[in-house]
Amino acid sequence: MSLRVAVCTADDLAVLLAGETSRHLAHHHRERFAVQAQGGGYYLLAWRDGVNVGRASLTVESKYAPVRRRWTGCAEVNALAAFPQGQGTGTALLGLAEDLAHADGHERIGLAVDPDDPGPRRLYERLGYRLWDGGTVVDEWVELLDDGGARRHADPSDYLSKPLRESTSG
Ligand SMILES: CC(C)(COP(=O)(O)OP(=O)(O)OC[C@H]1O[C@@H](n2cnc3c(N)ncnc32)[C@H](O)[C@@H]1OP(=O)(O)O)[C@@H](O)C(=O)NCCC(=O)NCCS
Repeated sequence: MSLRVAVCTADDLAVLLAGETSRHLAHHHRERFAVQAQGGGYYLLAWRDGVNVGRASLTVESKYAPVRRRWTGCAEVNALAAFPQGQGTGTALLGLAEDLAHADGHERIGLAVDPDDPGPRRLYERLGYRLWDGGTVVDEWVELLDDGGARRHADPSDYLSKPLRESTSG
């Protein structure tokens, strides 16, 4: 079973939405594809034998104001997920994100991590991401509930980043 990571196409979006039971995730598939269509970044997907096994959003600037003030044009990865985990999907998605960001002229890429979850952080540090010295950022997001409601989140997060001076994979 070979892993394929690629930018989401309109056909891919249709496949994702056809298989999606979560209102929240369906909303995010559409939203990330719309951001991509407007030139705000890329929606990255991982596939094994036609089955979606991972995703990540890559944006042309950080969603965090303190990061934007420090680094204009710092590309950012959000919503990275692999299912199942531990099969190289996260590594491959980050590699594609870094290559695209570098090709588009970004000199740095970053991401926010849960300070209480050391697993993802180990992966990012292995790939060269380092904690910035700008302090905690707050990840504000809205969870759409399947009963039609919404829940607001504000998660204090650590910010890791990595310079993109040369192509990182391949
Ligand atoms: C974080 C995540 C995207 C990594 O993707 P992945 O496909 O599992 O990662 P890979 O297979 O490429 O690499 C595995 C590495 O992930 C790290 N890792 C991530 N989560 C881990 C966990 N719960 N336990 C142990 N290691 C973990 C380790 O560094 C591991 O490397 P190792 O096997 O050498 O220890 C994935 O684990 C995931 O979807 N987690 C749940 C959602 C999440 O936390 N997203 C990140 C938000 S910042």
